[in-house]
Amino acid sequence: MTQAILITGGTGLIGGRAVPVLAERSEIRLLSRRPGSSSIPNTRTLEWNGVDVPDEALRGASTVIHLAGEPVFGGLPTKRRLDRILKSRVDSTAALVARLSSLPDDQRPDSLVSASAVGFYGDRGDERLDEDAVRGEGFLADVCVDWEAEAVKAEALGLRVVRLRFGIVLARDGGALSLMAPVFRAGLAGNLGSGKQWFPWVHIDDAAAMLVRATEDTAWTGAVNVVAPEPVRNAELTRVLAKQLKRPAFLTAPAFAVRAALGPLSDELLGSKCVVPGVAQALGFDFTHGQLSGALADLFGKSA
Ligand SMILES: NC(=O)c1ccc[n+]([C@@H]2O[C@H](COP(=O)([O-])OP(=O)(O)OC[C@H]3O[C@@H](n4cnc5c(N)ncnc54)[C@H](OP(=O)(O)O)[C@@H]3O)[C@@H](O)[C@H]2O)c1
Repeated sequence: MTQAILITGGTGLIGGRAVPVLAERSEIRLLSRRPGSSSIPNTRTLEWNGVDVPDEALRGASTVIHLAGEPVFGGLPTKRRLDRILKSRVDSTAALVARLSSLPDDQRPDSLVSASAVGFYGDRGDERLDEDAVRGEGFLADVCVDWEAEAVKAEALGLRVVRLRFGIVLARDGGALSLMAPVFRAGLAGNLGSGKQWFPWVHIDDAAAMLVRATEDTAWTGAVNVVAPEPVRNAELTRVLAKQLKRPAFLTAPAFAVRAALGPLSDELLGSKCVVPGVAQALGFDFTHGQLSGALADLFGKSA
């Protein structure tokens, strides 16, 4: 055990997969709003309010991983929820960096690995979006831009800052797929809107592995797209998922209905983002699940 890593939001989907791996080599401190004992070796849970990092959590930590944030899906897009989605990311990152700045130089962690999302790019048609692409428009793009802007401030304090722009993480027991699979299983699924929009996906194993690499490999810095190397259009996702689950998917959810249900969050499903993992590939990251059919077979193979 050579270092301590402080993780916010480490109890969630991505943290749940990455923490056990990180804990093999480091002491892990999870900041959670619902602290309990962790069953993962070398891991303890500390309480926080979702914004203010307690002093003891940072003591001796070499890296901070910031994953906390109100889930984007899972409720109506009321003004209150949209506000929570924004503030749980932006205010917590600002408070974290303020806390880092209050530490003496020699007691500051070396690195901040902060989550962001491909929502940064907005709705971009067929444009190939690597990390050099400019920001997009819309609520989710605004959230990501403000979120990343707060994280980047830690660079002025001497930290290596990695902004992981996660695509839609595909996992069996959480995230977008666990909401979609029951609809497919009921035979009620189909394309969303035109189905032509690009869908930036990544298998949970690769998302977690990229988080671990970003934490441990100092060559990883700046914005990093956490997506599979082969993005697909929504219609292809529908076809491959339906085939994997052996169900029909002939229906279409019209764009206006998706917009009516999700408001500004509908960009996540209807916006087209042909995002590619330019930085990860340049750094030699080896994807375990680079193709959608293989990724879905891995996740649902036994249940189909
Ligand atoms: N999963 C995806 O497809 C995806 C895609 C793009 C971006 N991301 C981003 O990557 C990060 C991690 O994703 P994830 O899927 O692992 O997240 P998650 O499972 O939805 O949530 C991570 C953790 O955030 C904490 N949290 C939830 N609501 C909060 C709030 N209002 N204030 C403070 N903390 C809150 C919870 O921890 P406690 O209850 O223990 O406090 C939760 O376990 C998130 O910021 C997410 O936006 C994820």
